[in-house]
Amino acid sequence: MSRDRADRLTILGLESSCDDTAAAVLRETDAGGAKILSNIVLGQSDLHAAFGGVVPEIAARAHAEKLDLAVEAALNDAGVSLPAIDAVAVTAGPGLIGGVMAGVMLAKGLVAATGTPLIGVNHLAGHALTPRLTDGLQFPYLILLVSGGHCQFLLVEGADRFTRLGGTIDDAPGEAFDKVAKLLGLGQPGGPLVEAAAREGDPARFNLPRPLLDRPGCDLSFSGLKTALLRARDTLVTRQGGLFAQDRADLCASFQVAMADVLAEKTRRALTLAAVPVLAVAGGVAANRLLRAALERVAQDADARFLAPPLPLCTDNAAMIAWAGLERLRQGARDDMSLAARPRWPLDTTSAPMLGAGKKGAKA
Ligand code: KG4
Ligand code: ZN
Repeated sequence: MSRDRADRLTILGLESSCDDTAAAVLRETDAGGAKILSNIVLGQSDLHAAFGGVVPEIAARAHAEKLDLAVEAALNDAGVSLPAIDAVAVTAGPGLIGGVMAGVMLAKGLVAATGTPLIGVNHLAGHALTPRLTDGLQFPYLILLVSGGHCQFLLVEGADRFTRLGGTIDDAPGEAFDKVAKLLGLGQPGGPLVEAAAREGDPARFNLPRPLLDRPGCDLSFSGLKTALLRARDTLVTRQGGLFAQDRADLCASFQVAMADVLAEKTRRALTLAAVPVLAVAGGVAANRLLRAALERVAQDADARFLAPPLPLCTDNAAMIAWAGLERLRQGARDDMSLAARPRWPLDTTSAPMLGAGKKGAKA
């Protein structure tokens, strides 16, 4: 073969399951990890802003338009030519089907042209395996995925061995943050705005519910919390004729602390169940400082290490897909042209499917 290969495997990753069009190039290191040579994420927030949520059809078109550009940019940034790629890893689900199909089709085109192996990656596995890329974490560990579309506790014992210990039965936490921001007229994405408003607020002013804490296990629910906030808002509006800035701040602070309390307690239970020495967290909501501090305390109390990958690798990206693909490749996994895009694809096929459907589509 006359390809300008490096000694170590070089993997191209593609991600298009939600509203980020992403491509990344990773190269294996001698230590068994990988170096991120490039990590391109082309967001679509502007396209969806007017609709207050991700519009699947718009997302799919934008992915189809931008994926090849993302790949080109990723190869350029990495200083790698397409023939030097040893495998193409692509998110094959779960997610919005149009976007996933756009990614899978492009990946198939690339492997047809280059003759390299194709690996279909589960998006959630990408998130769940990220701490191994960023910190060389060894199995087993517990990870909490908290984003706009995901919320689950996973015990990770191998690159394809995941046990779901619990998850949300309705909204994902980021989705709840976004809805609260909408109810209070704060703009989108809601998480950072709610967090900023909460900084000026009194978390004890509104006694919002802590859903499902009275039930055993690690499942979570956030839609009741959001509804309670809506009622508190409406009561104020009826009484005062509107909301003052302090009311908004107090509502945000009360909501945020309820969210953190619930996630902390459920994480405590998940850590006990998992009986592992590490708690990792991934997803956009992991940026929330109050939540992070609460989770860190839980880990400390359980004598477990707490680990949160850098934020750009916590949120949707293609480096995590390339890494998960590399892990699967090392296990001998390969896909062929029959690889299908899957809107639903539970990581843990033995646990009962989750009921919930996030704003970004039912996940797993
Ligand atoms: O992982 P991510 O970028 O995308 C997916 O959902 O896949 O997560 C985005 C979510 C949004 O719902 C956003 O409001 C939330 O993460 N988020 C936050 C914060 N920053 C982002 N939620 C709470 N506090 C934050 N600081
Ligand atoms: Zn994600």
